[in-house]
Amino acid sequence: MSLRGAYGLAAADYSVSQNWGAHTGAEHALFRRLFERQSKLVSRYACPEWIAAIAGLDAGAGIPKFDQVSAKLRKATGWEIVAVPGLIPDEAFFTHLANRRFPVTVWLRKPEEFDYIVEPDVFHDFFGHVPLLFDPDYAGHLHEYGKGGLKAMRLDAVKMLARLYWYTIEFGLIKTPGGVRAYGAGLISSGGELAYCVADPAPRRLDFDLERALRTDYLIDRYQSTYFVIDSFAQLMRDTAPDFTPIYDKLRAMPSLAP
Ligand code: PHE
Ligand code: FE
Repeated sequence: MSLRGAYGLAAADYSVSQNWGAHTGAEHALFRRLFERQSKLVSRYACPEWIAAIAGLDAGAGIPKFDQVSAKLRKATGWEIVAVPGLIPDEAFFTHLANRRFPVTVWLRKPEEFDYIVEPDVFHDFFGHVPLLFDPDYAGHLHEYGKGGLKAMRLDAVKMLARLYWYTIEFGLIKTPGGVRAYGAGLISSGGELAYCVADPAPRRLDFDLERALRTDYLIDRYQSTYFVIDSFAQLMRDTAPDFTPIYDKLRAMPSLAP
């Protein structure tokens, strides 16, 4: 049985068991093909923190065992993976992050979705997000983000905070000695946008600006026309540390910005 969208089997916190043994050989082979395609790109376009972490994860052999990776993650930064049936409600998502649990979708895309999938699957979640959880600054930032999400729910500001996630955790760029590189998971797991975001002259690459990111709408069905570039994960943590309450109040009174 496919676990895609099998919310009926989930616990109250939307977690499910990974049931790794149920994956078919064809699914492991598809994961390997996705892994191999991205592996040709990451050395040129992904950030050094991501590259340093992927090697220790043995993810090239097929869909990884979440328990094994969680054991390594717990030692490195106190994070662990929880398996989920797909996208989950905001409150459950923020609560997991606030407890250093990263929700990873259990199911893999179909072969016909090789190049493009509208919703996150295990390849996007694992390959894109999990390696960076080994970086202490990134890991600390995402923990704070989760707590900030629960707070934003009380302040009716989730839409603004979700834009920040989009322009950092999903589609963020970072400066490195070798030039700008991708750290956003939507970029690192993308067959086309990973090279585009770093090397194509068309998109804007703006220095990270918290208020601008919180105000800027985004489109989920095309390459981004604007990327925000951070100096370091420490900068991201610093810039997002202040209390957002007055910032939300100020930005609520202003129009949103086009993507
Ligand atoms: N500092 C934010 C607040 O007070 C919380 C937050 C931290 C949001 C990190 C995003 C990232 O709401
Ligand atoms: Fe994602």
